[in-house]
Amino acid sequence: MKRSWKKKNKILVIHGPNLHILGKREKNIYGDFTISELNLELKKIAHQHNYILETFQSNSEGEIVEKISNSNYDFLIINPAAYTHTSVAIRDAILSVEKPTIEVHISNIYKREEFRRKSLISDIVLGTITGLGKLSYILALYAAIKLQK
Ligand code: DQA
Repeated sequence: MKRSWKKKNKILVIHGPNLHILGKREKNIYGDFTISELNLELKKIAHQHNYILETFQSNSEGEIVEKISNSNYDFLIINPAAYTHTSVAIRDAILSVEKPTIEVHISNIYKREEFRRKSLISDIVLGTITGLGKLSYILALYAAIKLQK
């Protein structure tokens, strides 16, 4: 009997600078979960829905640009962290790969300092989820799964 075989879709999750210290960093703003706990939870959900999920964290803008441009994936979920507010290079990389993308933030960037209210990628992504803590990523992942069906 012939089995129908479908290649698993791949979702790439990128975490920007200072997110490697989640759980230690400004817990009142970012919560007490670590990046490993977050990544594990995302991987479990993706696996349950038959998706491959890769996670990547970097403090370097160039590395993030290279990851966006040189990796194989079908959908991007990105928290550019501080680069959200400054990086034309990350914006250009997202534009150049033409992959469906969701922007996420743990804190509500519109409720904080004035300089955080401007995102250089919000107008080029499918949508932005901000302010829901760990749930921002989880909701983005469910959206990514739903949008690829
Ligand atoms: C952040 C918000 C940014 O303003 C900040 O620089 C971060 C994290 C968030 O997830 O809430 O590092 O992207």
